[in-house]
Amino acid sequence: MLEDTSFAIHPGMEHESKAIVYRDVGNLIAEDLTDNYQFTCENGNIVIQFYTDSIVRITMNQHNEPKLKHSKTVMVDKKDINVDVSNKENQIILTTKQLQLIIQKFPFRVDIFDNHGNEILAETDRGMAFRENGEIIAFKKMHETDHFYGFGEKTGHLDKRGEKMEMWNSDVYAPHNPETDPLYESIPYFMTLRNGKAHGVFFDNTYRSKFDMKSNPDYYTFSAEGGQLDYYVMAGPEPKDVLEQYTYLTGRIPLPSKWSLGYHQSRYSYETEAEVRELAQNFIDKEIPIDVIHLDIHYMNGYRVFTFDKEHFPNPEQLIKDLREMGIRIVPIVDPGVKKDSEYAIYQEGVNQDLFCKYIEGQTYFGEVWPGISAFPDFTDEKARNWWGKKHAFYTNMGIEGIWNDMNEPSVFNETKTMDVEVMHRNDGEPTTHRELHNVYGLLMGKATYEGMKKQLNGKRPFLLTRAGFAGVQRYATVWTGDNRSFWEHLQMSLPMVMNLGISGVAFTGPDVGGFAHDTNAELLTRWTQVGAFTPFFRNHCAIGFRYQEPWQFGEKYESIMKKYIQMRYEWMPQLYSLFYEASERGLPVMRPLFMEFPEDEKTYNLNDQFMLGDNVILAPILQPSVTDRAVYLPKGNWVELVTGKVYEGENTHLIHAELEDLPIFVKQGSAIIKGEWISNKEKTPKHVSMDIYAGYSGENYQFTYYDDDGETFDYENGSYLKLDIEVISNKDKLVVNVINKKGDFKPRYQEIDINVIGLSDGQEVVVNGQNHTSISI
Ligand code: GLC
Repeated sequence: MLEDTSFAIHPGMEHESKAIVYRDVGNLIAEDLTDNYQFTCENGNIVIQFYTDSIVRITMNQHNEPKLKHSKTVMVDKKDINVDVSNKENQIILTTKQLQLIIQKFPFRVDIFDNHGNEILAETDRGMAFRENGEIIAFKKMHETDHFYGFGEKTGHLDKRGEKMEMWNSDVYAPHNPETDPLYESIPYFMTLRNGKAHGVFFDNTYRSKFDMKSNPDYYTFSAEGGQLDYYVMAGPEPKDVLEQYTYLTGRIPLPSKWSLGYHQSRYSYETEAEVRELAQNFIDKEIPIDVIHLDIHYMNGYRVFTFDKEHFPNPEQLIKDLREMGIRIVPIVDPGVKKDSEYAIYQEGVNQDLFCKYIEGQTYFGEVWPGISAFPDFTDEKARNWWGKKHAFYTNMGIEGIWNDMNEPSVFNETKTMDVEVMHRNDGEPTTHRELHNVYGLLMGKATYEGMKKQLNGKRPFLLTRAGFAGVQRYATVWTGDNRSFWEHLQMSLPMVMNLGISGVAFTGPDVGGFAHDTNAELLTRWTQVGAFTPFFRNHCAIGFRYQEPWQFGEKYESIMKKYIQMRYEWMPQLYSLFYEASERGLPVMRPLFMEFPEDEKTYNLNDQFMLGDNVILAPILQPSVTDRAVYLPKGNWVELVTGKVYEGENTHLIHAELEDLPIFVKQGSAIIKGEWISNKEKTPKHVSMDIYAGYSGENYQFTYYDDDGETFDYENGSYLKLDIEVISNKDKLVVNVINKKGDFKPRYQEIDINVIGLSDGQEVVVNGQNHTSISI
């Protein structure tokens, strides 16, 4: 294509015009401050609503009254909270406990401050505006100290200051470069960190949208191709507060099953039942932990969803049953495209019950994907969602508890890569075009699948993996970051990518370990597996035609290292599971950038090659070939390196040595982690659980919550869980461990949590719940 040559920068090519004219809302004409705060301006109507004391929603519609009930994402309604209103000649001031909105009347501008008078979000001389072609835009002041995070699934670095990003769900097989944008997920939300304090903005618009933190040093913009300007501002002030506020609006991850947190092995494709059995047996024989094998598109009959190829998979029920006995589950891929085949039951039902996407004139939209010409269920319609959900009985009746949704941008093999934007979706009775709903197609497929699976699994937790999604995707699905490559650069890039997804509410996420396309190699796979053992989602996946990359493919030396790290994943499971519990309760990411815990520390603001697991563990993996030393920045506190037991002082950069078998992990002094044990693939529930305390000596007070339950049902909703709030106080002469709160009636297999102190000094005595115990009894 000519666009791939220097022709792309031909002086005659059209570039963004400087002469674009935006019309802003203009002066205030009338206001109604009784219920919602409603404002009529010269060129638009604005409504301001408070969702909590710290969340405000601003909606501007240039044509009509703002539509207030159209969101595909926001799960809650505005609240009746106390708002102090003062209406002056030139200004209206709305004040809650956390926020102050100063509304200038002429022209209409809304500036938002926190309860200390610090500016959160201020408009520029342009305010809320639009163009004749329907584009809407918000201009916001940018401060020199602003750093931007979130934006869902983006390549490049952690801090997005200086970037311009687009939201349009896209299937990108190649390349995944730092500038490749957009990718599969659209999450039009970001968090700004300014002088150690954070706030968030969620732009609830499903059209193609843009965030421009690049073009102007003094302001940034967010804009969309259509719809209305509808955005929520979250006051923070801590990064964690912003996440809680954002996920209060868009929902939190459901507590995942423990098996879905284990190791997943995948390949495009394991093509026969015999191959899958052999693969499973290899894991058992080699005692490499595994929970899931994924079946990619070859399991189907001619890529028809809800079928098995009877030649290659003659008895899927038996396969699934036998694997279950080995401790392994099957997760099959399900794409949205339904093959156009008048003899295929799913296609027949879709046509007969009128469930496929259509043009306004009534003809079905057809596009080409793996099965050839296909129709696409209209997931914007409840009828189609219910139908699709119910169809999953095909899988659940066979004992399947997890589904992998792919190609759901939706991807179509044509020039635009997707469905015709003129397709008219039913949209639950309010028909609108694919142009408006493209970005939520994958989200709604996820909703249909997750809810259907949940109904059929009789109290067991479904697992859903998805490629495409929109804000709120976390409610239904785990996200993997699509078709990366077996490049060191892609291992490097996966860290900020997963961290930014975490900041975008998607706590359960990870890349294809080892790299999807291209041939991996022994060292890269080993280093990537070390990282994967600590990323929220841990799946090794590889594309057709490239080198097999199961952990044993490169010989014993590498196999034993990978095995050690996959086992470590299981040893750390109690810790991980407690963090996932926190994610499901508060929306906080499991894998976090350091700034989340140390927002005052500028050195953490764009730290791309380290991450935290929870609030007290730092991982600094080796991300380069042939390298065994790296610089590690440690923030405030003293940090104990796991392998050597050496203590490093914080607010310093250290040179750390790590041979191929080593992954540098640091635990904060004075804190603790809870670990289980790896027994075998058949027996994954630990008999022994221990609490490793990294002794402090100077009054450190660490509090955390340990959570456990059966790991696979919803019984926890009825009290069958164990929740311990634990504090560890480190003094010179004493290490005090107290269970300050115990809740739930779940009885785990272990009866106590053994206490194991690392770095106990001679003069230190350990006191557990007021006694000289060496364990916490449950
Ligand atoms: C897409 C997916 C990939 C999958 C392949 C075949 O490229 O991103 O993970 O293996 O399709 O289904």
